[in-house]
Amino acid sequence: MNYNQILKKGENYLKKNKIQNPNLDVELILSKVVHRKREDILLNTNNKLKNVEMIKFKHFLSRRAQKEPMAYILGYKHFWKYKFLTNKSVLIPRPDTELVVEETLKYLPNDKSKKILDVGTGSGCIVISLIKERPICTATAIDISIKALNVAKTNAKMHQLENKIKFINIDIDKYKSYNYDLIISNPPYINSIELNRLDDDIKFHEPKSALSGGSDGFRDLKKVILKSKKLLKINGKLIIEIGHKQKNQCTKILNDNKFYINEISKDLSGKDRCIVSTKL
Ligand SMILES: C[S@@+](CC[C@H](N)C(=O)[O-])C[C@H]1O[C@@H](n2cnc3c(N)ncnc32)[C@H](O)[C@@H]1O
Repeated sequence: MNYNQILKKGENYLKKNKIQNPNLDVELILSKVVHRKREDILLNTNNKLKNVEMIKFKHFLSRRAQKEPMAYILGYKHFWKYKFLTNKSVLIPRPDTELVVEETLKYLPNDKSKKILDVGTGSGCIVISLIKERPICTATAIDISIKALNVAKTNAKMHQLENKIKFINIDIDKYKSYNYDLIISNPPYINSIELNRLDDDIKFHEPKSALSGGSDGFRDLKKVILKSKKLLKINGKLIIEIGHKQKNQCTKILNDNKFYINEISKDLSGKDRCIVSTKL
């Protein structure tokens, strides 16, 4: 079978399985299988697949038909300006989370070395993007999941930052290192009702421990805020990602814990997504 035939067959199969972008997904899968750029494939549609490539193609296609996200099948996802390795142990970096990077950079001057903590680093996408932009800063990244932390370490190595970011496998509740200038976190914040309503791609494939914020969605947000109060210097910044209906409750928790709200920013679809606050 040549590229053209396999692309058509694959697309139809994904369509039948109600996959949203069958055309793009099948091109990316073929590109992974034959180790060629997507553009090269489209320029050489008469090329034939080898047997071993056919087997691999069918395997990846069937994973996609079962709604496994492309980032796990391909093994990477682009975030900010960089490529991050992804597997089932980590949440797939989201475009909305780039807002956390954008907001944080406003509070990190180019010429000042700040001490940063990333709580729940996952793939490491936030902290690695930040240190790429501000190499003068020092950072620690923690995660309760050892498997996620291993992915983050690999990503740091891939971006030549393995000696600049310290990775620690620990629950935020047990972490005791103080005097941070800035804490960032995208904690799990989905409540149990919303968790059940998520698309199958997310619900059945991404780690629950990275999504579920307990019955009301605030379990980990509360933990991060209460702990940050202790770990931050006075005037230190806490920058958190929130669910789009969590603004009021979160600002209340922050105010009750003596944080001043600097800014609440909206994501790409106009929903409240990121709060910048200062420990008073
Ligand atoms: C929503 S994911 C965010 C991952 C990554 N920072 C991002 O933005 O793509 C939340 C992460 O927090 C970690 N986590 C959950 N509870 C935690 C806790 N109590 N202490 C430390 N990390 C925790 C999870 O393992 C997961 O990797």
